[in-house]
Amino acid sequence: MATIRPADDATLADAAACLSAGDLVAFPTETVYGLGADARDDDAVARIFAAKDRPSFNPLIVHVADRAAAETLGTFNDTARALADRFWPGPLSIVVPRRAEAGLSLLVSAGLDTVALRAPAHPLAQDLLDHFGGPIAAPSANRAGEISPTRAEHVADSLGDAVDLVVDGGACMVGLESTVIDLCGDRPAILRHGAITREQLERQIGEVEDASVAEDETAPRSPGQIARHYAPSIPIRIDVKDPRPDEAYAAFGEPAPNPAATTLSLSPSGDVIEAAARLFATLRALDRPEFAGIAVAPVPETGIGRAINDRLRRAVAAQAD
Ligand code: TXA
Ligand code: MG
Repeated sequence: MATIRPADDATLADAAACLSAGDLVAFPTETVYGLGADARDDDAVARIFAAKDRPSFNPLIVHVADRAAAETLGTFNDTARALADRFWPGPLSIVVPRRAEAGLSLLVSAGLDTVALRAPAHPLAQDLLDHFGGPIAAPSANRAGEISPTRAEHVADSLGDAVDLVVDGGACMVGLESTVIDLCGDRPAILRHGAITREQLERQIGEVEDASVAEDETAPRSPGQIARHYAPSIPIRIDVKDPRPDEAYAAFGEPAPNPAATTLSLSPSGDVIEAAARLFATLRALDRPEFAGIAVAPVPETGIGRAINDRLRRAVAAQAD
């Protein structure tokens, strides 16, 4: 069972040390408890997806102390600044273009060039960010398909040993996830309704579109959002054991000698969590015009392997469109 600890200074220091070590820490925010990991650490972020047992990769919210910290990770325009200055710290997540040089895990954004940023208002979330000193990726701290936790005990009941430490901050005030607004399209669009209402947003920045979809972590995303997910620009084939000599090969496990133009292994040891951590970086590294295409080895359909295969199948489907 996960260790639940009262939120004193020693706990927060240990929680920050856990995050630095690549472990998972559940912590209270004003909305719901988050399952946190260092947002710059691909392996730690992969462990979030494995712990939640999500069958697909959804991009995660990255938590920061304030707008200054956010602007080191994403590009803010005037609209983003107006929203952050009015609603932060608070239950609003703002999707902006990701700064490539900021060192965020590609898995945090599920391969997208954008990132959802939020400065939480809960004092313990702020204390943890202060102790840790870096960005914390955190979805709601529950298994996929279960309701979001608003107490430390809910987290422990849902995630058990999959979380290393739960910081107990009592009940969450809002009890409902943050509003997600996307500023990367032609017009600002709400992707998820939450504690900050459309009317509140529109008073600040004018007309806001409603592009929200029902929140169901087990259901596939709406087509509009799928289309925006990363797909390589060269052809991709999956479940390939024998790559062609002009293809780039993403192997799984120790690659047998093969004739591919180049080979990178998603996980030399055949570990699906490691493969998840490396998935997007590997696809991007192999996505080069000198190759006829990318061939990906079969990945086992177990645990987070399902999310990997889901993403790969969508990359193939995106190209068939
Ligand atoms: O209140 C909350 O937001 C909680 C607490 C822990 O902060 N977190 C939370 O995270 O609910 P999560 O991962 O369960 O929800 C993230 C939402 C999803 O709807 C996801 O699709 C959207 O934000 N999202 C994240 N990054 C995105 C991006 N780059 N583009 C579009 N949507 C994004
Ligand atoms: Mg959730």
